[in-house]
Amino acid sequence: MRLLKAFLAQILGLIIALVADPLLPDISYDNVDFFILQSSAAILISLVLRQPRWWILIHCLFLPSVFFLLSFQVSAYWYLLVLCILGLVFWGTIKGDVPLFLSSTHVTNAVIELVYRESAVSFAELGAGIGTITVPLAKQYPHLIINAWERAPLPWLINIWRNRLNKNSHCFCSSLWDCDFDQYDVIFTFLSPVLMPEIGVILRNNMRPGSLLISAAFPVPGWEPELIKQLNNITRTQLYCYRITD
Ligand SMILES: C[S@@+](CC[C@H](N)C(=O)[O-])C[C@H]1O[C@@H](n2cnc3c(N)ncnc32)[C@H](O)[C@@H]1O
Repeated sequence: MRLLKAFLAQILGLIIALVADPLLPDISYDNVDFFILQSSAAILISLVLRQPRWWILIHCLFLPSVFFLLSFQVSAYWYLLVLCILGLVFWGTIKGDVPLFLSSTHVTNAVIELVYRESAVSFAELGAGIGTITVPLAKQYPHLIINAWERAPLPWLINIWRNRLNKNSHCFCSSLWDCDFDQYDVIFTFLSPVLMPEIGVILRNNMRPGSLLISAAFPVPGWEPELIKQLNNITRTQLYCYRITD
């Protein structure tokens, strides 16, 4: 539905620009007035269709980018290849999943330390990406049971490959909602503020008492953290640590 709305805004914007452009005085070179007309129309339609505001930037840049890239006369197969790779990496993003962006080494080290403090036996990661957390964790603690969930195919494959020597680490190519949340001493997640309320409700009901939830960067609304760990990385990430109670 999201893609359909975006597509509709672009196509209708194009039709409006094609109809209106010949009626207006030619005031600029290199199709600039045409681009402005098309993107303004696309933005208006996007707003009417109630697309999130960040689509405005995409509607502004889409047509000029198409023209700019066409000027290089690159074979269409390259665009198809790039599209396929992006599709494999950002698989669920179009349906609203959080896209891939990676935790820093600071976050990984802090998680390793927290797992040690907890004397954890089992660990889960929801949305595991390419194994930024699980690969070093599995190496550090070969007896820790590590299960991870990652829905996007390419990051999942990379995760599996990077963990191939770590017998204690498994990554499932499926939704994080398939996790048996009550099986773990520590659960780590780095997702988005949009998902946190839902995560909060599900984990509150399903994680076992005494276990620890670590959320990188995004707090769970309404939960009282046992600890907020401030890291010294560039983005000044905070790790929100929540103890699950009865
Ligand atoms: C912000 S990245 C974090 C990656 C990794 N945890 C890290 O810290 O480097 C979020 C990851 O969650 C995955 N993801 C988003 N929604 C998901 C879902 N519903 N089920 C499984 N994975 C999901 C994305 O594909 C992406 O790789």
